[in-house]
Amino acid sequence: MEEITLQIKYTEFTGLDQLPENDCKLVSLAREAAKKGYAPYSGFLVGATVLLGNGEIITGNNQENAAYPSGLCAERTALFYASAQFPKVPVLAIAISTINIGNTPSEIAKPCGACRQVMAEYEDIAGNPIRIILDSSDKILVMNGIDNLLPLRFKKEDLK
Ligand code: THU
Repeated sequence: MEEITLQIKYTEFTGLDQLPENDCKLVSLAREAAKKGYAPYSGFLVGATVLLGNGEIITGNNQENAAYPSGLCAERTALFYASAQFPKVPVLAIAISTINIGNTPSEIAKPCGACRQVMAEYEDIAGNPIRIILDSSDKILVMNGIDNLLPLRFKKEDLK
């Protein structure tokens, strides 16, 4: 028997002005996208920006529905749109911001399990770690690769 410890790694920035310029742009766009989310049921707005290898920048936000499970998170809205428009073009980075209506400051954006799994699939397609930027009103976390959010994940190789 052996106890194994896995580590995750990220860099914490104290604000938007501390971020590298490229990341700053992605976060600013995610904040704008969050404002346009459709979240009448949860009151929790989320925005995501996806940077692609061809330079395209795609934004998305959460889309809720009266039939709750029919809604979709911001991350998957953006990633699926990106893949639909630019199939196989590598995803280089994703930035995620949240707005908790009537409750500021906002917490660090923490993608749900399903969104982590979807990010992982696009990371496999890209063949390189995706830069993941998790925004909040007082600090911003930047990590390199989905292993920092979803260790021991299910992969398409597992289907073989
Ligand atoms: N949501 C996202 O869009 N992304 C996340 O990472 C977590 C949750 C959305 C789904 C739903 O519209 C609302 O936030 C509350 O769960």
